[in-house]
Amino acid sequence: MTPAPYPATRLRRTRSAPWSRTLHAETVLTAADLIWPLFITEGKGVEEPVAALPGVSRFSVDGIVARGKEARDLGIPCVALFPNTPHDKRTEDGKEALNPDNLMCCAIRALKSEVPEVGVLTDVALDPYTSHGHDGLVDTAGYVLNDATSEVLVGQALNQAAAGADIIAPSDMMDGRVGAIRGALEAEGHVNVQIMAYAAKYASAFYGPFRDAVGSRGLLKGDKRTYQMDPANAEEALHEVALDLAEGADSVMVKPGLPYLDIIRRVKERFDVPVFAYHVSGEYAMIEAAVAAGAGERDALVLETLMAFKRAGCSGVLTYHAVHAARLLAG
Ligand code: PBG
Repeated sequence: MTPAPYPATRLRRTRSAPWSRTLHAETVLTAADLIWPLFITEGKGVEEPVAALPGVSRFSVDGIVARGKEARDLGIPCVALFPNTPHDKRTEDGKEALNPDNLMCCAIRALKSEVPEVGVLTDVALDPYTSHGHDGLVDTAGYVLNDATSEVLVGQALNQAAAGADIIAPSDMMDGRVGAIRGALEAEGHVNVQIMAYAAKYASAFYGPFRDAVGSRGLLKGDKRTYQMDPANAEEALHEVALDLAEGADSVMVKPGLPYLDIIRRVKERFDVPVFAYHVSGEYAMIEAAVAAGAGERDALVLETLMAFKRAGCSGVLTYHAVHAARLLAG
């Protein structure tokens, strides 16, 4: 349809008053679109600010429960958990990931007993547990082994599910692990435990502050380019998503966020499934640095950024700005 020409058509008419802009908004952002990532540390009553992420702290399990209540009260439906495993518990094989009393499981159980209304998403990957900082098991040459890692990830996922995790989110990028985890969850009766696959996860320079938060930056030998995706590729992201869905993923994630909005849009157009984005640590840090430098205003930067994910086709966004955004959206 060719629109009637100016002046019959004046696109500024619908923009002329706030009520009209509200009425014509094509995309809506609410607290219900947000997933809040939280970092867990040992102890009681502990809060450790993460230097690379101003405004973000690691909390001991009691603090995680308090954050869960905050999420509930602000209408944030889900939190995502990441442990800062004590360094003396990190090993070559990352076996602390299988300990039913590890930080992750303690936090899951505490949240599910004290704030059951909030969904708990758990990261499956070995990097917070390995002495070399990789997401999987490495051979003598330092190569991350696929199938051997996948077996451990299945154990890690079952451990988290047994503790009460609602959504298992494998972030390791091994081939075949979604199918292996789904099969094991079914076999153990966890039929309603969801899988949100980090399907298109890129080998990105935007993860630096996260690695500080989980204490793996200094440990990491080399990079993750033999398992995470090349930022040059988009077709391959669609291939990854197709496989994870075929293996039983309930939803898929694209990560990082803003630099990959084209991938989000293409995934959404190709597949009729829920798509999530991870607005990652480096992206958060960039906004905070811009604000500190006087280059922008935090509230507006945050809301515009999160709206972009919705407009691109996301069902929701993992973001360290979740609480800030939810407060703004509550008016
Ligand atoms: C680890 C994992 C990473 C993130 C989430 N899970 C880092 C990595 O792959 O090195 C990054 C999140 C962020 O930067 O906020 N499997």
